[in-house]
Amino acid sequence: MTERTKVILLNTPHNPTGHVFGREELQQIADVALRHDLVVITDEVYEHLTFDGREHTPIAMLPGMRERSILISSGGKTFATTGWKVGWVCASPDLVTAVTTVKQFLTFVGPAPMQRGIAAGLRLPDTRIAEIRDSLQRQRDVLVEALEVTGMRVHVPEGGYFIVADVGPLGVTSAIDFCRKLPERVGVAAVPMTVFYRDATGVETLVRFAFSKRVEVLEEAASRLAALGTSI
Ligand SMILES: Cc1ncc(COP(=O)(O)O)c(C=O)c1O
Repeated sequence: MTERTKVILLNTPHNPTGHVFGREELQQIADVALRHDLVVITDEVYEHLTFDGREHTPIAMLPGMRERSILISSGGKTFATTGWKVGWVCASPDLVTAVTTVKQFLTFVGPAPMQRGIAAGLRLPDTRIAEIRDSLQRQRDVLVEALEVTGMRVHVPEGGYFIVADVGPLGVTSAIDFCRKLPERVGVAAVPMTVFYRDATGVETLVRFAFSKRVEVLEEAASRLAALGTSI
């Protein structure tokens, strides 16, 4: 925060950590926004993909925040249509006008055929959305177990598509090196967490794995990862 701060960017449920911000955490951020007259721009693309009964709360729902929030979401994650690039913005009319004014000079128009597909998705009953969430939770559980078996220290995510695991316990000192070699070693790809940080101190041995895959694919990954101990 400086004198020039105008906006807070908030992503919840969070990629890459899988954290779902709770009410108290959101209230702390809202307090700052209210005190300093800031707009909060939120990325809530994983809004429906929360696990173990955890609820996603848009910060716009907190008192005084509706007028100063720009809620952005997308069909990309809920409907497994990453790449379709169809999303939406919820905000007060003046903020929506600001967004459409800028967008006009960026991507200009949306992909109309994909919009029809996402519109069909948005008409699905809540029960179908719950099924999508529950099957993703099962996928998470398969990959969490597979990673734990290897001896990695696994952070179980509360939402989203990703698991962060510490490969330090495997004797690895660089997640970047580890991720470079992993596809060759066992045919599994992952992303070093260092790429998400300006200062990567403290995350040198953390790796992000995706579980947005069919269970058969995750099970195959599990059996390949099990061979990891012998290939290091
Ligand atoms: C937090 C977050 N926001 C936005 C996106 C992109 O969403 P879309 O494909 O709808 O642009 C992603 C996808 O990786 C994401 O993880």
